[in-house]
Amino acid sequence: MNRLIEKYAPTRENLLDILHALQDDNPHNYLTTAALRQAADYVGIPLSEVMSTATFYSMFSLKPRGRHIIRICESPPCLLLGAESVLTALQEMLEVQVGETTTDGAFTLETTSCLGACGVAPAMMIDDQLYGNLSRERLAEIIDRVRSSDEAR
Ligand code: FES
Repeated sequence: MNRLIEKYAPTRENLLDILHALQDDNPHNYLTTAALRQAADYVGIPLSEVMSTATFYSMFSLKPRGRHIIRICESPPCLLLGAESVLTALQEMLEVQVGETTTDGAFTLETTSCLGACGVAPAMMIDDQLYGNLSRERLAEIIDRVRSSDEAR
């Protein structure tokens, strides 16, 4: 049994936490079929139910992704304040389209609905970190900082 999930009681209520733990443990940021089966066995529910949950929530992926997941908000308040040009800048900077991973495996670019940070729109998250008041210049700094922290490891 995977020790990562043993800290959660094997109940349906904990399924999201269990899936998060399994996904976070994967170096390519996704849920493998083995991980889904493990969650199903642990909670004691059908694999199809775990699959439904994993495919319903956009924060879960069933295919390999980059080490860092960038989620740019595309809800109206962020769009009104320039999210589209921020997205274009990110696509140019990283040379990927939405849903793709950079060739070095560092970043996967995704879009999301409101992050609850409309006060600092346009906003995005990289992994668990929120970034707001985005501009082209600020994006370049942020991406450089994340790359540098990877290299320092
Ligand atoms: Fe983008 Fe709320 S609309 S954070």
